[in-house]
Amino acid sequence: THSLGQAARQILTQNDKGSYTIPTKGLYPYQWNWDSAIAALGFAEFDINRAWVELETLFSGQWADGMVPHILFHQPDSGYFPGPDVWGCGGPIPSSGIIQPPIAASMARRIWEKDTVAGASRMVVLYPKMLAWHRWIMQWRLDRGAVCTTHPWETGRDNAPDWDNTMARMNASDVGEYTRRDTAHVNSDDRPTKFDYDRYIKLVQLGRKLNWDQAALREQSPFRVADPTMTFTTLGAARDLLAMGTELGFDTIGLAEDIQTLEAGAATLWNTDLGAFDSRDVLSGEWAECLSNASYLCWLGGIESDQMMDRLRNTLETVPYPVPSNDPDSDTFDARRYWRGPTWAVVNMLIGLGLEQQGHHAEAAELARKTGALISEHGFAEYFDPLSGSPAGGKSFTWTAAVWLAWAG
Ligand code: DGY
Repeated sequence: THSLGQAARQILTQNDKGSYTIPTKGLYPYQWNWDSAIAALGFAEFDINRAWVELETLFSGQWADGMVPHILFHQPDSGYFPGPDVWGCGGPIPSSGIIQPPIAASMARRIWEKDTVAGASRMVVLYPKMLAWHRWIMQWRLDRGAVCTTHPWETGRDNAPDWDNTMARMNASDVGEYTRRDTAHVNSDDRPTKFDYDRYIKLVQLGRKLNWDQAALREQSPFRVADPTMTFTTLGAARDLLAMGTELGFDTIGLAEDIQTLEAGAATLWNTDLGAFDSRDVLSGEWAECLSNASYLCWLGGIESDQMMDRLRNTLETVPYPVPSNDPDSDTFDARRYWRGPTWAVVNMLIGLGLEQQGHHAEAAELARKTGALISEHGFAEYFDPLSGSPAGGKSFTWTAAVWLAWAG
């Protein structure tokens, strides 16, 4: 455990660009939004100042309207596509035009709780920015109180089967020529298909054409899905903002109402036939019919569910390396392909932090133990085959190292 801790620190240090951390060399050479929030939690284990700097750099890319982009392109890198020229965004730092699960406030709360004296001065600057991002999400992304994703990349769960029906209805025949870079870095069987990639790029082209205007996108985009990742992370963040703001005497106006709205929204994601939290296509009204690892983020959002708890206990008992990103009994299950089956240590940690917060200590400890065993047997990979445990995707991955330091090690 000691040497693994050292190895984890070394990964964070190697991927550290000074004021922000890249997820992994080659495949992801910039600052990613939720990766960075996880990196901050990892840094907090040995360098709390560096943890704050990570979050401060992330919010230095915040747009004037409150939006915090999913990628900040701090310096050019020809190894990644689509780069800043494809996104065509304004903003203080070249960036993408979409968001990612807003876990920054929840990670900030945990970092602040480690040292509330030092944290208080950092929070004076950071808190209003986090609140402004929360308000942007509440303004632009709700459907019946649930939070919508407008691009598969926003959830982080790029090629999850949750979006299959929505993506199948999209026409991307005019996407044009482009060269993927991801498959130059890692095995293409571990990555999304060309069918999916064409649609990812098509949605970027649409956003650019509409100047990333959220009102226009709401009218015109074929992709708008209310999803457990966005809804539960936004709900958890709102609760954490309210708790911190109350303690520190900051502006918390509207947060209590927002929490009620989001709780009602979370209820609209319960698919009774599936018996799980599911994604719902806002335009077609259809369920995705997907039990994913994001379905288990309910506890992070402060939502209790006996049925999800039964499922979790069953998954912990029956899947060799839980929690799989897709139900192993589903036709769409693919043990190695990114978000269609593999286990992600980072999602395990978010599930585990939620379980702990809700007082489900035995399940939280069991999940942490299994995640720790997976990492110690198979390394700090981006993700893992849930049946064999074998590592997949990028290596020496920042968030897997941070998960070890902050939770699983
Ligand atoms: C990618 O490029 O594959 C990323 O997941 C986008 O965020």
